[in-house]
Amino acid sequence: MSQTLLPLLFASLFVAEGLETHTVPSLLDSHPITVYSLSSNSPPSDSQSPLLLLHGRTWSSLSVYHLNPNTPTDLITSLPSTCAPYMMDFRGFGLTPSDSSDTVSPSKCVEDCKTVLKWIAERHGANPNTAEAANYRDQRLPSLIGWSQGALIAQMVSQSNCEYLNKLVLFGSIYNRTLTYPTSSTPLHPPNTLNTKSSSLEDFTIEGSVLPSTASAFSVAALTVDPIKSRWTNLHEFNTLPPSPLSTYRITDTTPVLLITGSHDPYSSPQTQIELFQDLGDRGGGDKSLVVIAGSDHASHLLEGSRERWKKAVNGFLEFGESCSLNSGDTYTI
Ligand SMILES: *[C@@H]1O[C@H](CO)[C@@H](O)[C@H](O)[C@H]1NC(C)=O
Repeated sequence: MSQTLLPLLFASLFVAEGLETHTVPSLLDSHPITVYSLSSNSPPSDSQSPLLLLHGRTWSSLSVYHLNPNTPTDLITSLPSTCAPYMMDFRGFGLTPSDSSDTVSPSKCVEDCKTVLKWIAERHGANPNTAEAANYRDQRLPSLIGWSQGALIAQMVSQSNCEYLNKLVLFGSIYNRTLTYPTSSTPLHPPNTLNTKSSSLEDFTIEGSVLPSTASAFSVAALTVDPIKSRWTNLHEFNTLPPSPLSTYRITDTTPVLLITGSHDPYSSPQTQIELFQDLGDRGGGDKSLVVIAGSDHASHLLEGSRERWKKAVNGFLEFGESCSLNSGDTYTI
């Protein structure tokens, strides 16, 4: 059986349970991007606010957000019924095929994410050009959550004048004001590098914080869906986030934003999150919050002690977070 069919078969058997999959052609080059929604949310309802979740550097959204279907570790089925969650996989992850370059880069992820946000907005009947949407954000526009390296992609999307975005959640962002990625188009890994069991457990860094059954379910799901490492390239494109002198993104972004991180997250220290909080500017006076979850590492949404707190913080922000005017003149201060 071919390498592309195997994960597809396993994923549909074990991991994609209860999901509907959609293929959305990227506005960049028509590459087919796989998007997942809950079968129970089809067709979309007017009373639900859509939400798109982005995965990180190594594992597909399937294992990260849809672990153990219909249990509390299955994040997307345990969100409130007012929310219509979607997940996407970047090129070469999960059920999104690699493109002809067999690599994935931040700029391609940004374009693919913007494609999917537009597709979701249209599916939910949101129109960013109505007078209503110009004055306050239309709840039928999708909000966006990015985890880890996916939070950098989400931040780039938000700062690139994306009109199809409601609210933004940067979860365990690996933003680091003082880190400069070397300029290089050489992929991080050679072709066909296998992911390993130990790498699938790397995010669980606090002894006893994760149930052994959750850790092992994650490992099995992750290695089934992503047996081979996707090949990141051009990570220096992250150097263009403000306040870098190389910045190509606007610092006047007024999207309401929540930063959420674990107090013991080795990739996202409280110090880097405070700097990110400052670097996100004053949002035109709009909503900007930082939540630190005590006793949690990078995978707050999967740990017994932090999972419910994570959901309360994120749900509260998505439901009640203040919208701010799209037209306000934001000023940028550190
Ligand atoms: C941020 O980058 C600096 C410089 O490379 C590094 O010393 C520091 O450990 C990084 N912080 C985190 C939380 O990764």
